[in-house]
Amino acid sequence: MSEIESVLKETRVFPPPPGFSELARIGSEEEYHDLYRQSIEEPDLFWGRVARELPWIEDFHTVLDWSDKPFARWFLGGKLNASAICLDQHLTNGRADKTAIRWEGEPGDLQTFTYAELHQSVCRFANALKARGVKKGDRVAIYMPMIPELTMAVLACARIGAAHSVVFGGFSAQALRDRIEDGGCTAVITADGGWRRGKVLELKKEVDAGIEGLDDVHTVMVVQRTENEVAWRDGRDVWYHEAIEGVSDECAPEPMDSEDLLFLLYTSGSTGKPKGIVHTTGGYMVGAYLSSRYVFDLREDDVYWCTADVGWITGHSYIVYGPLANGATIVMYEGAPTTPHPGRFWELCEKHGVTVFYTAPTAIRTFMRLGEEHPARHDLSSLRLLGTVGEAINPEAWMWYRRVIGGDRCPIVDTWWQTETGGIMLTPLPGVTPTKPGSATWPFFGVDVAILDENGVEEGPNQGGLLCIRKPWPSMLRGIWGDEQRFKDVYWSDVEGCYFAGDGARRDEDGYFWIMGRVDDVINVSGHRLSTMEVESALVSHEKVCESAVVARPDEITGQAICAFITVGQEVEVDDSLRTELAEHVAKEIGKLARPSEMRFTDALPKTRSGKIMRRLLRDVAAGIESAGDTSTIEDYSVLAKLRGHED
Ligand code: WT7
Repeated sequence: MSEIESVLKETRVFPPPPGFSELARIGSEEEYHDLYRQSIEEPDLFWGRVARELPWIEDFHTVLDWSDKPFARWFLGGKLNASAICLDQHLTNGRADKTAIRWEGEPGDLQTFTYAELHQSVCRFANALKARGVKKGDRVAIYMPMIPELTMAVLACARIGAAHSVVFGGFSAQALRDRIEDGGCTAVITADGGWRRGKVLELKKEVDAGIEGLDDVHTVMVVQRTENEVAWRDGRDVWYHEAIEGVSDECAPEPMDSEDLLFLLYTSGSTGKPKGIVHTTGGYMVGAYLSSRYVFDLREDDVYWCTADVGWITGHSYIVYGPLANGATIVMYEGAPTTPHPGRFWELCEKHGVTVFYTAPTAIRTFMRLGEEHPARHDLSSLRLLGTVGEAINPEAWMWYRRVIGGDRCPIVDTWWQTETGGIMLTPLPGVTPTKPGSATWPFFGVDVAILDENGVEEGPNQGGLLCIRKPWPSMLRGIWGDEQRFKDVYWSDVEGCYFAGDGARRDEDGYFWIMGRVDDVINVSGHRLSTMEVESALVSHEKVCESAVVARPDEITGQAICAFITVGQEVEVDDSLRTELAEHVAKEIGKLARPSEMRFTDALPKTRSGKIMRRLLRDVAAGIESAGDTSTIEDYSVLAKLRGHED
């Protein structure tokens, strides 16, 4: 792993627009460097000050205890409540009548909530849960569409000290069941259905199937959204609108210890069952609050839209907790990005006057493919800042995002982080960092990051290695639910004393970080280690290619050979001359070494429901073997069947 060869060269640099820096919360490199230095050298001072910007019920006496490595504890002795931080403080700081949520359903229905209204709804929700016997220390599964009640459910759990375990509404009954069982959830909050691509996603039905025989689940609370028929079990099932009838709209927030569990969120590893990532209250809230404030440069009049689903960590940290802790106005949208038309996202930006927009590279590449005419139909001049998260963004997509969506005027923050890190770790600060397309640039405050080899030795400039974090940070995971050993093995055993969660990266001569993909996505061709991401990036930079996934296939001569799965534009002819053209293009971009030995053209790539390409499956397809591993998260099985050469 020590020498992943880096071949991607990117020389464009975009300083923040001067007007932007002048108004930004942090507006100069000097200020960033001073704060960063303090956050690393005097963490108690830095984090103590930041944490006290939030309202605590009881002040903490110790910022960090790192004596029981790898288990860090933050803000010891402190008591707080995450829902009070997101809501109650704004009732008395002038934001009571400010809009908290602007929500739009897929069919176009609208709802808005001020902070006062959201507070009231959350209190009633919390009281309804209490009335059903849900209490501090319980775990509650939430399986819902992107409707306001999802955000309310999350905050209602936090308010009464019950931990939430949000399961993305696109997961199957079986995936839901596994998570409910593993987390020991005793209640489920769901909806009759939700709108997705013009159809009703029948969530209650999935819940019924998923919890069949799980006697520990005493309550299923159901929000009415789509009014489709649902089966009902008396005693267990309760309508949300009935449960909140007549309950008080006051509910005192439960004082939580800083290290009390706030939520579990499941994420898949390369093998085995999903891991319940543990996040606790104090550190997580401080991290979400601070990163939202500075990365998205949140100002009082911003309209902030993160297009993720609350079912992912991005939604937890950057739809719910971070922005609301800052008193921001957020946009929430229920449906698919292209329903009912390919310009839906841009229509929403225009209609709601979105100023800060945060989305995923996979979405951006989809929009590139759909064509510029769709964003061109909408006035996007309200936008001032763009962000991306979830995977590396190839420079071509970055440039398109900047030009077509950002009008060459908005800085782009490419944010690297993970479910485990709780908050953004590598990112530009929009008023400070000169950005390079494809680089997540610099560490955020308190993040002591380095590129190391297996022995913990730091790699030199442009040498690929393991992306490691050497010091604890407030929003870090506190463990894997119920499996201490796995926590140590997965995250703390590759490099002595460091957190490592699987990404390879390099740092260039200017100190910029470039994520090279997961280390198991590394290809070794004739003794040369190549990042699959860089080969993909080269392919996608060809005008005829829309998306590509590159994996290794065993090869007798070269050790591993490069197999590329490629989707091309609708009008492009797939023939031998295209193959030659693309091979030459990769040779030109990277070198002959990186030319794929096999190219498979396909209409679509197999993806998880969060949009990540399932390379593990593609590796099996490339090697000609049937996948034995877990495919429960794949979005569209027919894609896989087609790639294997037989239709389902
Ligand atoms: C993995 C974490 C963090 C919220 C969404 C995903 C990849 C994430 C970037 C980025 C390159 C990225 C990494 C990471 N990743 N952001 N800006 N550049 N890669 O959360 O499901 O926990 O996945 O996503 O490989 O390890 P997640």
